Amino acid sequence: MKKRLLSAVMAFSMLSLGLSAHAEASASPDNPSSPQVGMFDFDSRTVLLNSGYTMPILGLGTYALDHDTCVNSVMSLIENGGRLIDTAYMYHNEEAVGEGVRKAMEAYGVPREDIYVITKLYPNQFSSPEAAIEMALEKLDIGYIDMMLLHHPGSNDVKAYHAMEKYVEQGKIRSLGLSNWYVEELKTFLPQVNITPALVQNEIHPYYQEQDVVPFIQENGIVVQCWYPLGGRGYTAELLGDPVISAIADAHGVSSAQVILRWDLQRGIVVIPGSGNPEHIKENLDLFGFELTETEMSAIATLDRGEKHDWY
Ligand SMILES: NC(=O)c1ccc[n+]([C@@H]2O[C@H](COP(=O)([O-])OP(=O)(O)OC[C@H]3O[C@@H](n4cnc5c(N)ncnc54)[C@H](OP(=O)(O)O)[C@@H]3O)[C@@H](O)[C@H]2O)c1
Repeated sequence: MKKRLLSAVMAFSMLSLGLSAHAEASASPDNPSSPQVGMFDFDSRTVLLNSGYTMPILGLGTYALDHDTCVNSVMSLIENGGRLIDTAYMYHNEEAVGEGVRKAMEAYGVPREDIYVITKLYPNQFSSPEAAIEMALEKLDIGYIDMMLLHHPGSNDVKAYHAMEKYVEQGKIRSLGLSNWYVEELKTFLPQVNITPALVQNEIHPYYQEQDVVPFIQENGIVVQCWYPLGGRGYTAELLGDPVISAIADAHGVSSAQVILRWDLQRGIVVIPGSGNPEHIKENLDLFGFELTETEMSAIATLDRGEKHDWY
């Protein structure tokens, strides 16, 4: 694995620095200013993954977006400077994400390399993973998949992961990850695979903070990304109206959603808020004009009540 990371790092040292989703990833110890795996760069708004690629630290979730809304939302994200999109086989909108990406590339002159698309295999696909990966590539139709996750633990998950590893070798998938894997599941899973996941995507919001799980994942050189950052579609009202969060939002002249997303970023957690509303999409990208104080971070930490908003 170390050899694999080193060669990926060396290969990418040939690329130029910038806002590209795949900027230079030279992690040489004699170049202390070079990016470190897992460390957020708030200037370029990216993080270096253990795969040697960089990924934007904020983007768009597309769960529950129908075809047209999804195409428009992806375009709106990219028009407003966002570059990271999360989809899944289970969302039935991989075609729409691909269409949105292609249209935005053309409309706004954004190169494919600057855009980062994550999709996922669902457990009912794990027994025939090659067919499932081919289907995802075909539906997205954007050349390659930046990152593929296993959506949940399930039978044949190791087999499915090994198939994804083969597609990484072929260059059709660039990085791998997991979703809904926690400490015990990771301890069992990691020794069985060849490529360490670059990312784990789990439910995280102020009422469910995963204060034990997040450091465990990060200490293993794996980036954490959160789903349901705003509490989940249909469950946002209480969180966005929370008095502690609202007071912090008022103090900074921003919205509750921006406070929550900024809190995630300051914890080193990548955000993919879901939205079909262009105004919200724009607002959710506007997280760099203010900073939460340690007192404000601690105040939000006290809101944790272990309240999961979904079963997995
Ligand atoms: N791996 C997994 O198992 C898993 C599970 C669930 C979700 N996910 C991923 O995580 C993403 C995020 O989760 P989610 O979309 O379900 O929930 P979410 O991001 O917590 O919340 C989405 C809801 O927030 C609203 N919203 C977004 N921005 C807002 C803003 N600035 N102000 C007020 N309301 C705002 C949206 O409404 P509007 O549409 O009106 O903006 C929508 O109703 C998903 O889209 C999906 O990509 C992964």
